[in-house]
Amino acid sequence: MAEKIDLLVTGIGRLVTPPGNSPRFGAQMRDVREIEGAAVAIAGDRIVSVGTEADVRAEIGDAQVVETLDVGGRLVVPGLVDPHTHLVHGGTRENELALKRSGVPYLEILAQGGGILSTVKSTRAASEDDLYAKARKSLDEMLRQGVTTVEAKSGYGLTTGDELKQLRVAKQLHDTHPVDVVSTFMGAHAVPPEYKGRTDEYVDLVVEEMLPRVAEEQLAEFCDVFCEHGVFSVEQSRRILLEGKRNGLIPKLHADEIEPLGGAELAGEVGAISAEHLLAATDEGLKELADNGVIPVLLPGTSFNLGLSTHARARDMIDRYELPVALSTDYNPGSCPTESIQLIIMLASLNLKMTPEEILTACTINAANALGRGFDIGSLEPGKRADLAIFDAPNLAYLPYHFGINHTFGVIKNGRVAVW
Ligand code: NIG
Ligand code: FE
Repeated sequence: MAEKIDLLVTGIGRLVTPPGNSPRFGAQMRDVREIEGAAVAIAGDRIVSVGTEADVRAEIGDAQVVETLDVGGRLVVPGLVDPHTHLVHGGTRENELALKRSGVPYLEILAQGGGILSTVKSTRAASEDDLYAKARKSLDEMLRQGVTTVEAKSGYGLTTGDELKQLRVAKQLHDTHPVDVVSTFMGAHAVPPEYKGRTDEYVDLVVEEMLPRVAEEQLAEFCDVFCEHGVFSVEQSRRILLEGKRNGLIPKLHADEIEPLGGAELAGEVGAISAEHLLAATDEGLKELADNGVIPVLLPGTSFNLGLSTHARARDMIDRYELPVALSTDYNPGSCPTESIQLIIMLASLNLKMTPEEILTACTINAANALGRGFDIGSLEPGKRADLAIFDAPNLAYLPYHFGINHTFGVIKNGRVAVW
């Protein structure tokens, strides 16, 4: 036991956490640990003891306690992990709202040179300082939502220089903001206007120039592709992900978001850590995910905001395929302009029919594993990073139930009070 406890969190009405470091599959997602009258002892940035307050006090014995924080009977869960965002970008797209509301489909707006390509224009025009300031505001909001680790994709630069610019901003955010930012290179997010009709040549650029630079400058851990009809085909996506792998980047994939193209199958084939969206994934595709240990990352805010009547088949994924489902905001300026993981929690309950326990697991240990960080974050256990979200709620079910407000009372990140 540590000789000195830097922070002792007491007065926890209810503490809920998934157990362990590994992804939680299928029914395991509902099997969470709940402790009433709990406490957490922290030394430096690590948890040293979790349990009932009596047990934690007995365990720390006569160690010096530097600071005690009484959370007044509230709910404590692991700091939430948001494993799929397009955090760094220039501009906003409210000018497309009327078009969207009049029923013009998402891919049609993109084909007309709007959508992602409109954000590409703004991102290319923005300085690193501009991008940093905008993304920092979003990160502040995410932290206030109870999120302590966020993934951030590039993909609005689409030139080598502008992709590197986005990734440098993400790194700077990681270095200067309490929230941890994990970077994904997504040069294959759209085909830029200067390569219109020459997608294969753009793929050459991604593979031959961008990927080696990203790897050399160690600007990303993961590589992602928007595998979709009219964007990047399965063959093109395969080439990019395999080349990414050769450069040391772990594959992820925007798969079967709008049409069932075989994205889930490809994610299984290339050994992706996660496959995202999956609204249109086939049974065969889901089976491939299960057989290859791919984590499905579901983004119910996107289907909600695109006004779709279909949603990802979370129940089948959990009940039939025993997959370790994760949830995320997909925060981006087009298909899902929200930083609110708490809105996602509500939508996962409403539209994906996930239980509160499944949702917690999906936003913590499974999301952490979708970022290869299950050993470090995503549950409250001795040895893990001291990332805690404190919600003004009596129990888990209250979070999706009382919707449209921010439940956060406090956030502890790396053992320090980041929101109070
Ligand atoms: O995950 N689908 C592709 N990319 C994003 C949307 C990006 C945008 O519209 O700017 C997504 O939905
Ligand atoms: Fe996305």
